Amino acid sequence: MTVEKIELARKYGTPLYVYDLDVVRERYRNLKTWVPGAKFFYAMKANYNPRILKCLLDEGASIDAVSVAEVLLALKIGFSADQILFTANMVTDDEMREVKKRNVLFNIGSLSELRRFGQLYPGSEVCLRFNPDIVAGHHRKVRTGGKDTKFGIVLEDLEKAKAVVSEFGLIVVGIHEHTGSGIPETVDMVGGMRNILAIVSPENFPDLRFVDFGGGFKISYYHDEEPPNYSEFGKEVNELFSAVREKYSQLEIFFEPGRYLAAECGCLLVRATTIKENCGKVIVGTDSGFPQLIRPMFYEAHHEITNLSNLGGSSKRYDVAGNICETGDYFASRREISEISEGDFLCIHDAGAYCYSMGGVYNLRPMPSEVVLDDGVDELVTKRKSNEELVNEIF
Ligand SMILES: Cc1ncc(COP(=O)(O)O)c(C=O)c1O
Repeated sequence: MTVEKIELARKYGTPLYVYDLDVVRERYRNLKTWVPGAKFFYAMKANYNPRILKCLLDEGASIDAVSVAEVLLALKIGFSADQILFTANMVTDDEMREVKKRNVLFNIGSLSELRRFGQLYPGSEVCLRFNPDIVAGHHRKVRTGGKDTKFGIVLEDLEKAKAVVSEFGLIVVGIHEHTGSGIPETVDMVGGMRNILAIVSPENFPDLRFVDFGGGFKISYYHDEEPPNYSEFGKEVNELFSAVREKYSQLEIFFEPGRYLAAECGCLLVRATTIKENCGKVIVGTDSGFPQLIRPMFYEAHHEITNLSNLGGSSKRYDVAGNICETGDYFASRREISEISEGDFLCIHDAGAYCYSMGGVYNLRPMPSEVVLDDGVDELVTKRKSNEELVNEIF
């Protein structure tokens, strides 16, 4: 970021989300380099900020959408229907109608939904989501593969899925899997792919046009951590895929990265409002809380925190707490941070993915504003509601 974050905190006030589009572009180009020829469907659930979406549209990305509103937003931003894959869970018939009338391809991960879809739209094209039977991801709540999750058609049900497909004359153009999010080892991503590719054949799916391997590319939330070797991973993917590709005249690889594209572009700037000592622990209270950045509380996730008002100062150990009436409302525990005084601005790093988009107004505190940096120039994209505006929305 060329503009100093502390200046942005002063200019726009805190709490404030800041996203740097140059980082998004760089990450997208990395993916394109690592797996040449693959198509990337940005998992919009990671961050639906319109400027991030537009930036990725301009880069050539497509969209992984999980709700009707995500589909509508993607279309409004300018993605065409054939650049969107709809991977919703527990879809109602009304939702099916809303999406189908916009000609967006469905990715269906349940036999009963497949049957309902077949009844409503016989003869349609469809993508089938299978459970890759690999358990991996940064936290148990984001591991989507394996027997203990609600996701995908289990591989044992392949014949049942084919029977529904044939009963309703559906045309399977895609096969999909998503193993988990923030997958620590690429070997597990490859494992999920292998399991899925084992069922990809013209005998099972004669009309296939793509295989979609979901998301899962991780980032280093600990800044001294070695990132996985995705360049090697790309080579492995291409080797793995080439044998299957030969069986079809044309078969594309899709991925659905969310975190990798958006996490490191963003940060949440907060202000230290209160410093208190409880039984030997120093607690720094801030003007934000877990509804505005839930990952530490929800996933015990680590986000680096720096004191922008005292960069390079000698460090002290802190618990960094939020302003919410909830015992677990912490951004960090026992964290070494350069000495903090009340009024200091803190930066919570890598907050571009699964932070604002998972937010809410619990305790009736409005969500932060969002500022975007494009080529170093800052622009306010989402303005924080005032307390009065929030109340007026309610009553
Ligand atoms: C089906 C699907 N695709 C893609 C993603 C994006 O994953 P990530 O952000 O880890 O790349 C998710 C995340 O939960 C998902 O459920």
